[in-house]
Amino acid sequence: MVRNTSNLVSFRRRDEKPPQNEDGVSSNKACKAYNSVLELVGNTPLVKLNRLPLEHGVKCEVYAKCEFINPGGSIKDRIALAMMQDARKDGVVHDQTEFVEVTSGNTGIGIALNATLMGNKCIIVTQDKNSSEKVNTMRLLGAEFDNEINPRAHYENTGEEIVAALGSVDVLVLGAGSGGTLSGVGSKLKEVNPDCKLVAAEPDGSVMINKDGNPHPFLVEGIGGSEAPIILDKSLVDHVEVVTDKESFLMARELSKKEGLLCGGSSGAAVCAAFKAAKSLNIGHGKRVVVILPDGIRNYMSKFVSDQWMEAHRFLEPPQHTMKWWTKPVSDLNLNREYPKMTSKSTCHQVLEAMNETNVNIAVIVDDNGHYIGAVSKDSLRNRATNPTKLPGQVSEEYDFQDVVTDHLDKHVYTLADNIPEDTTIGLLSRVLDITPYVVIVTKDSNNSAFCTPSKVVTGDDVLDYIFESSKTIN
Ligand SMILES: Cc1ncc(COP(=O)(O)O)c(C=O)c1O
Repeated sequence: MVRNTSNLVSFRRRDEKPPQNEDGVSSNKACKAYNSVLELVGNTPLVKLNRLPLEHGVKCEVYAKCEFINPGGSIKDRIALAMMQDARKDGVVHDQTEFVEVTSGNTGIGIALNATLMGNKCIIVTQDKNSSEKVNTMRLLGAEFDNEINPRAHYENTGEEIVAALGSVDVLVLGAGSGGTLSGVGSKLKEVNPDCKLVAAEPDGSVMINKDGNPHPFLVEGIGGSEAPIILDKSLVDHVEVVTDKESFLMARELSKKEGLLCGGSSGAAVCAAFKAAKSLNIGHGKRVVVILPDGIRNYMSKFVSDQWMEAHRFLEPPQHTMKWWTKPVSDLNLNREYPKMTSKSTCHQVLEAMNETNVNIAVIVDDNGHYIGAVSKDSLRNRATNPTKLPGQVSEEYDFQDVVTDHLDKHVYTLADNIPEDTTIGLLSRVLDITPYVVIVTKDSNNSAFCTPSKVVTGDDVLDYIFESSKTIN
């Protein structure tokens, strides 16, 4: 068979010039071989946002520093590498050293990545509940929040890279967790251009920088808090933009969809703050804004990346399906199974006995006033009992069923309020049940929306039974 090769892949001839972009710059990315993945930490690309600024009515140039390109997936690879190299240089670390890091987040991943490549052991102490014992243990182990190598790594590397790529920058926008990035990059950019404005993206609910804020829990991870860490140099901050969870996650999703930047929620918060600041501070045409995107979507696949998660938190509306039952109220379901309601003083032992007596596998926990505190399932108790916390050299602890149940509540329990009409369609409930085994139906307190009283528990079986029974009458 004779093929027309012109339709197949054409190879560039040796004497042809390499492809160039409009500026005459070679568009071939530097192709290089590396000795270790650690050589890939830092030197992250700065990428101009093309669609989003226009769509949000912003005229300045916005460049994103893509820290999710780091091998561990976040900006924290930089400080992990810098801290560990520094410790090696000073002789504090040798081949037998075990690293201990107190975090469940990106710094832990950075430390683990570096440790494994340096051939060192590493222990990550995760923080699954904020008991004072755990906080004290963290302090004892030396959490990284006051390590001055953190801002220095950003001053010498992250900041320097931005200057090398863009020269003088007019505005820097970023969130603060430990404050290392803000202090390090902020100092560098202000040193190069003393008129550079630093805009802090503060999650709504955080009072780390915005002392006038109303403190309350928020979902964006990695930034914000109740107190400013020692290494956060607040004097560098010229302006604060408060960003809600909804704004942050919607912007992070837009960054993926419209700019191809698969970044996390704190990146969405920073870009949102940049657009708000461009308007409130009149940052117009010709001005150059740099926004830091600290991590990628990998950590959030079951969170804001999921439509159902966004809907469960009322950040997106559920799809408008046309099945007859979709818009029916949850009160139409046949929910006559009784789940035990236990007080917060109950032990796991008592709660399990109550579940066994009523032949169910979920219990709801309330305070002395009957207000909802949380819920616990047999499955999560089983999970804890069979996966004990164990440091190397320690014996595995037997599960203590005499522990108070509030220390063992299920982590992500979703509630829907039966006195908020749009909350209670079976359609929305079925979406939430796509990502969780059960939902607690509550009644919001009319005087104080922070309180609610639990009324029912719904599982996926209840919804299926309802659809099945309805199908019999429809057909
Ligand atoms: C996702 C994410 N965004 C932002 C930050 C803030 O960086 P920094 O700790 O340098 O303030 C962190 C820090 O942990 C983070 O994990």
